[in-house]
Amino acid sequence: MTANLIQEQISKFEVTKLGDLTIRVPLCDEIPDIEIVEQKEIINKALATWLNIDGVAPLNFRLYGPAGVGKNTIVYHLARILQKELYIIRGGEELRPEEITCSPIATSSHTFEYIASPLFAAMLRGGICFFDELSRAPHSVLAPLASVLDDRRTLTSVNPGICLKAHPEFLFCAALNENAEESMMLPDFIDERTRPAIYVGFPSKEILEQILKNHVRNADNLWFKVFIKQFKNETISPRNAVKLLQYAYRLYCHEKNGTTNHAINDYEAAKYLDRAKKDILSANENNTDFGSKESKEEISVVSELLH
Ligand SMILES: Nc1ncnc2c1ncn2[C@@H]1O[C@H](COP(=O)(O)OP(=O)(O)O)[C@@H](O)[C@H]1O
Ligand SMILES: [Mg+2]
Repeated sequence: MTANLIQEQISKFEVTKLGDLTIRVPLCDEIPDIEIVEQKEIINKALATWLNIDGVAPLNFRLYGPAGVGKNTIVYHLARILQKELYIIRGGEELRPEEITCSPIATSSHTFEYIASPLFAAMLRGGICFFDELSRAPHSVLAPLASVLDDRRTLTSVNPGICLKAHPEFLFCAALNENAEESMMLPDFIDERTRPAIYVGFPSKEILEQILKNHVRNADNLWFKVFIKQFKNETISPRNAVKLLQYAYRLYCHEKNGTTNHAINDYEAAKYLDRAKKDILSANENNTDFGSKESKEEISVVSELLH
């Protein structure tokens, strides 16, 4: 591996001087190259929320819904169409307060440098901060967001003792699971400051088919037809649907090495999909992202199909 390539892979921070402070500010996240299918209404609502009208700062919004229905995909699309840098923070029990603001690191016994959070970076450079899995962050850690998300638009970091005023073009949004939204797991001050709360639900089967076609580009049309037929009356998230079809198609390609797509028939495709279901959907039980009611329904549907 060349030194340049290694440098490219590890240079995730930019060293910035703020007065006499040295702060390592993270670069923006890479946006996955996924072509979004539909979701026009949600995109319109999000864009309207972010309008800067008559000099009044944009509002913040949150997306909520079942796992795997396209919340992240919507945010990636928004960043792409607005041509803005995207900075992602992911909520979790282990998230520490400094990870929202700045973390000090000792460079010698008397000197410190600071690692800025993605939120800090977005505020400094006028990008979008996307707080994913917002409800999974401890409430105490969210406290600095109060002044970021109201008219003050400032982030206070006690250590190193700075108060950062957001760039005028800074935007914020968040996402959380449907169950967390419905059981009101957000503290009041975050709930009030991240409205509108926009619901993202399961797509229709026509849209799901289009999503599958975007993700499994080389598969024969028959695969999509058989897939949609199998899930005609069931609920499956685009994430699970994409994984399931990708896996089934890979199994087929691997085992039929050299056979062309066109040789496959409905019965054979259905068999590969059944085999894939067993591995893909049952694995979700242990995945925190799939603890939702819908995933469990999907698993029971599969058991029915398999017996
Ligand atoms: N409308 C859509 N258009 C294209 N791909 C989608 C769409 N909705 C979901 N997907 C695909 O489904 C998967 C899960 O989407 P993601 O945005 O991560 O869901 P969530 O954030 O709601 O858990 C991704 O592979 C994504 O590409
Ligand atoms: Mg997500």
